[in-house]
Amino acid sequence: MAEVKFKNVTKVFGKDVKAVNNLNLDIQDGEFMVLVGPSGCGKTTALRMIAGLEESTEGDLFIGENRVNDTPPKDRDIAMVFQNYALYPHMTVYDNISFGLRLRELRGFFWQLGHMGEAKRIKEDIDRRVRETAKMLDIDHLLHRRPKELSGGQRQRVALGRAIVRKPKVFLMDEPLSNLDAKLRIQTRAELIRLHRDLATTTIYVTHDQVEAMTMGQRIAVMSDGLLQQCDEPESVYNRPANKFVAGFIGAPPMNFIAGSVQAGTVPVGAFKLELPPSHPARAEEGMKVTIGIRPEDIYDAQNNCPIPLTEGNTFEAKVDVLEKLGAEDTAYLVAGEVPVTATLDPSTRIHPGTTSKFAVDLDKIHVFDDATGAAIR
Ligand SMILES: Nc1ncnc2c1ncn2[C@@H]1O[C@H](COP(=O)(O)OP(=O)(O)OP(=O)(O)O)[C@@H](O)[C@H]1O
Ligand SMILES: [Mg+2]
Repeated sequence: MAEVKFKNVTKVFGKDVKAVNNLNLDIQDGEFMVLVGPSGCGKTTALRMIAGLEESTEGDLFIGENRVNDTPPKDRDIAMVFQNYALYPHMTVYDNISFGLRLRELRGFFWQLGHMGEAKRIKEDIDRRVRETAKMLDIDHLLHRRPKELSGGQRQRVALGRAIVRKPKVFLMDEPLSNLDAKLRIQTRAELIRLHRDLATTTIYVTHDQVEAMTMGQRIAVMSDGLLQQCDEPESVYNRPANKFVAGFIGAPPMNFIAGSVQAGTVPVGAFKLELPPSHPARAEEGMKVTIGIRPEDIYDAQNNCPIPLTEGNTFEAKVDVLEKLGAEDTAYLVAGEVPVTATLDPSTRIHPGTTSKFAVDLDKIHVFDDATGAAIR
């Protein structure tokens, strides 16, 4: 096991593609860290640098105590699971899992001839490890099958088994669930969390799916355009996003953004004056151009089970455009004046598409972003 540390790491492709831009990130020993961000933000590049498959242009990379910039991949003691986990089609599950170990530990036919006793011990040890791993992943009954005789989820577990069996210091996983259907993804997600709990191996997991990031990461590192935007526990990233990018990326349906400027402690939105909370620092920034961020679940139907007292500064009228009934909750697409607003409402709501209703915002939960920098003001 080991910690992994990026210190001012930059990767430039060609002349000017900064795939990773001055990344500083400490991943603790035994931690499950998720790198998340939109396509092209540099997640795979960061992972490949840890694996040694990509050289960094600048900066230092540490695994444990060692600076590994110049260490070849095979000496880094990491195992990587890719999105396209290429299994050997002609080999059984058993052989797919044990192949890397046999290659590494049984040093060729002639060596084995000269070291019969030792070779036998190594083979037994490999056999035990393969069976243990297969059992852990619930594929021990499939060891004799070939990949084409397996389901997608089973193949995925074989690929995981191949990585686990090596007992590496660090697991690197690049979108390993993206080939699975939605249901299997959720199931495998839970299995991976359980597996990490049992093995406690440092794991760096890449995904562009914010739900995967939120549910799996002990901490999540949000990236955009090669730059680390925020690294924190999921709850903190959700409740205290550092900037507008993180706020908009994490959360579904996404946070509502409403542009305006600060005027006497309020932000006017059409006819409605949204009141900033009494102690909010943005109140002091008269005239500042800001974006107000409101999560859909912080908006309530003012006429139905509304848990917050209604005031002039938190209540607005909006036309109900579309109402989606999801069972546990409703998603309402509203238009307030000209501004589109999404609200997640209690399913007992009686609002109707095409009519106008009153809604209330929990002002204590709003976010304010400086338009000049995108940074959260708090
Ligand atoms: N070998 C390469 N040569 C040139 N540019 C590259 C190379 N590999 C990646 N890039 C560029 O570096 C940037 C980051 O790519 P990277 O693959 O790390 O993104 P990602 O976050 O993994 O995206 P995705 O979610 O689509 O997998 C992109 O702009 C990409 O086009
Ligand atoms: Mg990628």
